[in-house]
Amino acid sequence: MNSVGLSLPAPVVQAALAGCDGPRLAAAVSRAGGLGTLTLCAPTLGATRVRLARLRRLTMRPVLLAFTGEWEKPEVLNLCVAAGHRHFQVFWWNGPRLVRRIQDSGGVALWQVGNQGQIDEALAHGADGLIVQGTQAGGPVRSPRTLDELVPGLRAQVGAGFPLIAGGGLATCEDVKRVLALGADAALLGTRFLLSQESQAPRSHKLRLLRAANEQLFLDTQLVGQWPCSPRRRLLTHSLPDEPSLYGGEGLSRIHDLPSAAQIVHRLAP
Ligand SMILES: Cc1cc2nc3c(=O)[nH]c(=O)nc-3n(C[C@H](O)[C@H](O)[C@H](O)COP(=O)(O)O)c2cc1C
Repeated sequence: MNSVGLSLPAPVVQAALAGCDGPRLAAAVSRAGGLGTLTLCAPTLGATRVRLARLRRLTMRPVLLAFTGEWEKPEVLNLCVAAGHRHFQVFWWNGPRLVRRIQDSGGVALWQVGNQGQIDEALAHGADGLIVQGTQAGGPVRSPRTLDELVPGLRAQVGAGFPLIAGGGLATCEDVKRVLALGADAALLGTRFLLSQESQAPRSHKLRLLRAANEQLFLDTQLVGQWPCSPRRRLLTHSLPDEPSLYGGEGLSRIHDLPSAAQIVHRLAP
């Protein structure tokens, strides 16, 4: 991924985890040689300034800043660029507005996609790289296809050298090797990093997820929350609310502990 200024000692990317990521998690992943991600979802300028300053105190390595909200004030991007950040994640609903602005500011835009229509749209808007979501992912799922179905054809479409990050349902080093063999440059993992020491999910929710298996996950098609347009894979609970800290992907059955983010990166690196 040298074309977008990313040389990762470990080809491992922590996914955007809504309120469950944070400067501590993102910095720990990047310091360990992977690429951490910090979600910026319609924050105030003051709150963004504080989070970016905290991130910079923890690491100067690249961190992916994910714009997950539909609308962002232009000043938020300016603040990120002024803090020295170059790598941004966008999605189908904000990519068309953000890609050009990111590139004009000297940044690169990695666009998350999950089907051919989204891939074509991202490429038509000039995305610098793609984050491919397979249908086994935790949290908001906008992909009807597995990574086996998506990645080889996409690699053939975009050619060698175009940055591709792929994830959804991954948990182990074997999984990482498998997506690299399919043609990805790096593997994306969300649930695995949700179940780390540094993630901001409540410890009780982490323990609940750890005790659960894939059979207790379901794809909730109710249209609610900040991503009202996509189903969410989450833990089936009778008493607990629908919260990101209880999202999980189909790698869950292969996750059995709560290590530090650095330990996770080291274990996952082939
Ligand atoms: C706790 C959590 C929060 C997430 N929040 C978002 C989000 O706000 N927007 C989004 O597009 N994807 C979100 N995702 C999906 C991730 O970006 C990624 O596609 C997914 O985690 C990959 O699958 P995995 O969890 O099986 O590794 C979330 C996933 C989790 C686990």
